[in-house]
Amino acid sequence: MADDQVSVFDIRGRAYIVTGAGRGIGAELANGLAEAGAAIAVAGRTGADCEKVAASIAAKGGRAIAVGFDARDEAQCAELVTRAAATFGQLDGAVINHGIGLHRDALDTTREEFAAMLDGNLTSYFLMCRELGRHWIAAKQPGAIVLMSSNASILSYGELAAYGVSKAGVDQLARQLGAEWARHGIRVNAIGPGYMAASMKGIESIYDAPEVKAKILPKIPAGRYGALRELLGATQFFLSDASSYATGQYLAVDGGYSLI
Ligand SMILES: NC(=O)c1ccc[n+]([C@@H]2O[C@H](COP(=O)([O-])OP(=O)(O)OC[C@H]3O[C@@H](n4cnc5c(N)ncnc54)[C@H](OP(=O)(O)O)[C@@H]3O)[C@@H](O)[C@H]2O)c1
Repeated sequence: MADDQVSVFDIRGRAYIVTGAGRGIGAELANGLAEAGAAIAVAGRTGADCEKVAASIAAKGGRAIAVGFDARDEAQCAELVTRAAATFGQLDGAVINHGIGLHRDALDTTREEFAAMLDGNLTSYFLMCRELGRHWIAAKQPGAIVLMSSNASILSYGELAAYGVSKAGVDQLARQLGAEWARHGIRVNAIGPGYMAASMKGIESIYDAPEVKAKILPKIPAGRYGALRELLGATQFFLSDASSYATGQYLAVDGGYSLI
């Protein structure tokens, strides 16, 4: 790119919230967006994890704050949005990425477990989006939201009934809010990772065991699990002006798994 050209992917000087950013995919995206020049509110349930990620961004010359919060609590979602906007003097978007996993046969899944999955993976996404929408509409400012879905939102995997339904709701949330808020300049899109090099907390042993991997790999057209960094391009696309006319979309980033 020539110096005098402004890339539509350029996010230098922008400010974003990333939730579930104390570890895993969220931490990788917080680091990657900061390296691309954005200020990041590193938000998640375990504040100490977020402090470490924010400190590593700052050590590399980036700008970040750590915010411990529980996305299931609407007051804490509102506080996060207010604090990020006040600290950075602007808020351009958010990656709603936090989540919980559950591997359980549907017949053995309790009502409480099913409700907890919807609360942790879907209601909390709605609450974060609602607070962001309220903030931007009141301020008459545009915004871009990326929701971390999963290809389990469109495929039926074994033992993922509760998780898959929660993620299908995330995709629909993107479509609903994308249509509702487009006239305010607020865009809402979803990304669907497949098998990634680091699995979610608590279910690592299911996907990362060599004997399990040996069965899964032949089913992935790309022939490998995805590196967490490979979610950065899609995320930056949906946050940046490169996707200024795209809203309510779901983009699979799964090495082609959902194609066959
Ligand atoms: N890894 C994969 O293979 C994969 C594939 C498809 C989709 N995804 C999706 O990608 C997202 C990130 O996954 P990951 O693998 O990075 O998971 P992870 O390593 O388990 O990290 C999830 C993060 O979210 C935080 N969190 C959970 N519930 C929260 C809440 N209510 N409020 C605030 N923070 C909360 C966790 O904090 P604590 O540690 O304090 O609980 C943790 O930092 C999830 O939405 C997941 O469904 C992942």
